[in-house]
Amino acid sequence: MHFISITDMNRPEIDRLLDRAASFDSARRSQKANNSLEGYVLALAFFQPSTRTSLSFQVAMLRLGGDYVCYNHSMHDPSSYRYPESLRDIALVLSEYADVAAVRHPAVDAVWDYKRFSTIPVINAGNGIGPGAEHPTQALLDLYTIRNHLGRLDGLSFLLLGELHQRTARSLILALSKYSGNTIYLFHPPGCGPSSDELQHARENGACEVICEEQLKYKISSVDVIYHCGTRKKPENYLLEEYSLTGDALRSMRQDAILMNPLPRNPSNVPYEIDNLPQARYFQQSAAGVQVRMAILEKTIELAATE
Ligand code: CP
Repeated sequence: MHFISITDMNRPEIDRLLDRAASFDSARRSQKANNSLEGYVLALAFFQPSTRTSLSFQVAMLRLGGDYVCYNHSMHDPSSYRYPESLRDIALVLSEYADVAAVRHPAVDAVWDYKRFSTIPVINAGNGIGPGAEHPTQALLDLYTIRNHLGRLDGLSFLLLGELHQRTARSLILALSKYSGNTIYLFHPPGCGPSSDELQHARENGACEVICEEQLKYKISSVDVIYHCGTRKKPENYLLEEYSLTGDALRSMRQDAILMNPLPRNPSNVPYEIDNLPQARYFQQSAAGVQVRMAILEKTIELAATE
């Protein structure tokens, strides 16, 4: 009933969910209302800031005729709270108020701890960084965007760059490994890559290769998808310029390729002046968060009702 990792879903389940998201998209364009979640409430328990994930979950719930409540995470900040609460108690309380919870936390294990005590389904809205960190709903909207623009999810080439131990990159690599014939090139600062286990997992269904700077120019001009995962604004152990895309670098990008970024962006990596490039799809990507999360919420509540 919970959705914690992209590995919780198999390929046919993902494909069906993306189809459902596409049907919400076309219903919206033809102004057809859907109130399938009328009477249901989503609880957002976010212990880390969010713009896209939080708001698109809220809009998704409203578009399905449901409602939402938000836990105020500032109460969790030791400098501001009057009464600290354990995740256990928050999970137990929100389970009584809502039908499904979306949880974001800076600690990798927190979403698992929360799930242990929740009696309603828990959706991982982003947990931590590094091994075990995931952002499965982001991976689904990434797949949806790729499929919309390139028509398929098999047999594609990807360049992932930036700090690839981040949860968005980790979930995307795991998601792509469910499809066949994909080649993933990785370019990341020292110590900011996926673990060897994750690389091995990705290689089971396609090629996955860490590249060096000399290969970068060629990959930018040849791949189907460039996905920039971002870097810190002031890195300590590498040069920001090495991981930044300029108009000059991107001019060689194929016309039919796409450039993605989970946002928020570091403008040094993906500068504002490239937003008008026809390949830049990061705002369509974040917009897709609504219909994809509508499909996730509908499926999660449907599954909970049958258990
Ligand atoms: N991509 C993403 O997770 O954005 P937010 O941090 O704004 O939710």
